[in-house]
Amino acid sequence: MEIPGAAYVGNRSCFECHTNYVRNFTASPHSRIHLSEAGTMRGQSGCESCHGPGSKHIQAGGARQFIINPGRDAAACFNCHLSTHAEFSLPQHHPVMERKMNCVQCHDPHGADIMKPAGGFAMARLNQSCAQCHRDQSRPFVFEHEALREGCVVCHSPHGSVNAKMLVERDNNLCLKCHAMQQSSGVAPGQIYIGKVNHTANLKLGGCWSAGCHTAVHGSNFNPHQLY
Ligand code: HEC
Ligand code: HEC
Ligand code: HEC
Ligand code: HEC
Ligand code: HEC
Ligand code: HEC
Ligand code: HEC
Repeated sequence: MEIPGAAYVGNRSCFECHTNYVRNFTASPHSRIHLSEAGTMRGQSGCESCHGPGSKHIQAGGARQFIINPGRDAAACFNCHLSTHAEFSLPQHHPVMERKMNCVQCHDPHGADIMKPAGGFAMARLNQSCAQCHRDQSRPFVFEHEALREGCVVCHSPHGSVNAKMLVERDNNLCLKCHAMQQSSGVAPGQIYIGKVNHTANLKLGGCWSAGCHTAVHGSNFNPHQLY
């Protein structure tokens, strides 16, 4: 991340021309970063930690070729977010590395609210951020699956995953963390219940959603048990 010949000048130098950005930025989680305690790494916090050294941009009256815009290239973000980089490199991922998507479709790097769109109840807002692009899974259903109230991210890793469909678990454990299997008393041993329903035979057929059973995992307009 280099602008040849440019030097770090600090947030105050941006204020004159980008007043609102500088004002709002004090509420951003990113304004709390102070990696440069020792003073040896200027530009490691503040505007220039993402936009690169700003002196030439300012001297040229705001010329775009002298400032980095990480909206187009996530490399600037990956300087600090190494584990996020690793997540986007997993086999199943949102196509950020392919430059078909970028961080700022889901995150606001400047404001108090790092998630987009801003405002509202935390989990509903997370789902709304996914709903921008995935209407089918996030629209209202007649029989909604209450799991969605905890957010899409109880089942999906938003950046990437080793599992198909970016699921946090590849198998029944995805569902069983909320729907415990029980050995019911008063029935033959080895009988497995989930809720009130005997699932012993069903579970032999395969996964909760992959064996043609609860295929409407996000909710259903037709069936209260999300079978279709
Ligand atoms: C002298 C006024 C001025 C100052 C000071 C200034 N900028 Fe800018 N900046 C501009 C103008 C004008 C544009 C719009 C350029 C355009 O649209 O072609 C701009 C655009 C930008 C962009 C968008 C670039 C893009 O590719 O779209 C970023 C990012 C930016 N400035 C960051 C900064 C940062 C960070 C600082 C402080 C280090 C700063 N600016 C200081 C005038 C300034
Ligand atoms: C955490 C990284 C990060 C920090 C810190 C940051 N920015 Fe940005 N900035 C971005 C990204 C990403 C974009 C692209 C946004 C987009 O495309 O929607 C951007 C875009 C901009 C733009 C161009 C907006 C436009 O409409 O084209 C300006 C101006 C800007 N930033 C100024 C600043 C100033 C001033 C600061 C410090 C107060 C700052 N930024 C701090 C990441 C950052
Ligand atoms: C200079 C290092 C640095 C850069 C560059 C950087 N970040 Fe961060 N980011 C951090 C740190 C440190 C935190 C943790 C802040 C805290 O929790 O107070 C953070 C937090 C976050 C969070 C989570 C905030 C929360 O509330 O948990 C998101 C999302 C994020 N960054 C996105 C981005 C994006 C997108 C970019 C690039 C546009 C970016 N970051 C660039 C250092 C950086
Ligand atoms: C498809 C939407 C989406 C995109 C694109 C995206 N994020 Fe995120 N990100 C999220 C969500 C949702 C969370 C919150 C996860 C949670 O609360 O469990 C998050 C959380 C984070 C966090 C907090 C720590 C963590 O991993 O939980 C960081 C840091 C972060 N994102 C950085 C980035 C960076 C950097 C990029 C671009 C390279 C990016 N994100 C792109 C949706 C996205
Ligand atoms: C800006 C648009 C956008 C946003 C916002 C977004 N996605 Fe995506 N999503 C995509 C794209 C593009 C793909 C890749 C589709 C492809 O490769 O065919 C994708 C793929 C997926 C897939 C895998 C689909 C498959 O068939 O393999 C899942 C699951 C997913 N997204 C969940 C989420 C979740 C959860 C969120 C919110 C945290 C979210 N998405 C936010 C655009 C988006
Ligand atoms: C209870 C767990 C769970 C929750 C919560 C959840 N999903 Fe899914 N999602 C799944 C499973 C399981 C699949 C795989 C379905 C399959 O392969 O047939 C899937 C598949 C997807 C796909 C791929 C296309 C498809 O329908 O098969 C997208 C996109 C998606 N989910 C988005 C979302 C979004 C957006 C949210 C939040 C509104 C969300 N999911 C919440 C479990 C969940
Ligand atoms: C975050 C917790 C959570 C996760 C994960 C979760 N569920 Fe649910 N699910 C609920 C809640 C809460 C209800 C409503 C209360 C109830 O009926 O148990 C529900 C209801 C259901 C129902 C309707 C109940 C009925 O009477 O038939 C089905 C079917 C269902 N879930 C299947 C699944 C499947 C399949 C998965 C895995 C893909 C899954 N759930 C993952 C929380 C969750």
